[in-house]
Amino acid sequence: MNILDAGATARALPFDALIEQMQTLFADGLVAPDRRHHTMPMQDEADATLLLMPAWTEQIGCVKVVTATPGNSARNLPAIAGSVLVFDRATGAHLALIDGAVATARRTAAASALGARYLAREDAKHLLIIGAGKVAAQLADAFRAGRPIETVRIWDLFPRAAEALAASLQNQGWNAEAVTDLSQAVPQADIISAATLATEPLLKGEWLQPGQHVDLIGAFTPAMREADDRALQRARLFVDTKFAAIEAGELKTPLETGVIAESDILGDLYALAQGKAMRNSPDEITLFKSVGNAVMDLAAAITATRRAEEEPRV
Ligand SMILES: NC(=O)c1ccc[n+]([C@@H]2O[C@H](COP(=O)([O-])OP(=O)(O)OC[C@H]3O[C@@H](n4cnc5c(N)ncnc54)[C@H](O)[C@@H]3O)[C@@H](O)[C@H]2O)c1
Repeated sequence: MNILDAGATARALPFDALIEQMQTLFADGLVAPDRRHHTMPMQDEADATLLLMPAWTEQIGCVKVVTATPGNSARNLPAIAGSVLVFDRATGAHLALIDGAVATARRTAAASALGARYLAREDAKHLLIIGAGKVAAQLADAFRAGRPIETVRIWDLFPRAAEALAASLQNQGWNAEAVTDLSQAVPQADIISAATLATEPLLKGEWLQPGQHVDLIGAFTPAMREADDRALQRARLFVDTKFAAIEAGELKTPLETGVIAESDILGDLYALAQGKAMRNSPDEITLFKSVGNAVMDLAAAITATRRAEEEPRV
């Protein structure tokens, strides 16, 4: 069995191959079974959660195992730990174990780039990233796999984090800078991608310009928001998977309060990858909301396992 640590997982997941694999799975209509949450009681600290996310094709399968242990902050350890176990469907044999954090960050950015493949304007070259965490750090390379991105601007709640990500991207050859005023940066961008833990909307609909593409990765509970009601109302709305996006995140409250209707959600990654939905005109504003699912993990599992098999072992 191949065991890929964080570095090996990143090397085994180049965005062009990962996005292509993801496109194939969604175009084929592959549906993942429900994910499972199990509460694991703890003594004298908050309960831990075990999350299991399986998916498989006829050839290959995977299960992502993630533990969330809130009490770890008192131990100075990360709360989240995860791995993706990859197995052969014909025999059940275990093929690989890949780093869950890296695979998740890269497959999430790849899903955004896949959405942008159908929804962002072909000439999109100015990217604004809102957030400077693990997913945000992947977005420039992911979007460049499908659009001619030339400049990257980064805003974060903590300006030092935005500066650190800008410096890291500059070291990789990007024309990147940190910005502090979102109201000025938003109108100048072609693609605006948010990957934050925001609980109050950061992105205001009044700042949006015709032709822009908005990508929202963060909010996964109704208590979280990255964009305000006006942004949702001004844009043509798309999601990664309909059920998850409606139930879990950004869209739940606006749907309940009537700000938007379910019929305003015009397609998911299945419809986009199958050519049933797309950007219709250069001037419309498009918005893609993701919450993530196991089909994306499977795309990472397949891509990484194939790459690792091709690499000579030391
Ligand atoms: N859609 C998906 O498939 C998917 C997959 C993985 C993660 N996520 C979500 O994406 C988000 C980012 O994940 P990550 O792994 O990069 O996390 P991270 O902890 O590495 O980064 C979080 C970022 O959010 C910023 N932030 C924190 N609190 C904030 C606040 N109150 N307002 C605005 N910004 C705030 C931080 O400064 C940081 O830049 C999370 O909400 C995570 O749950 C979504």
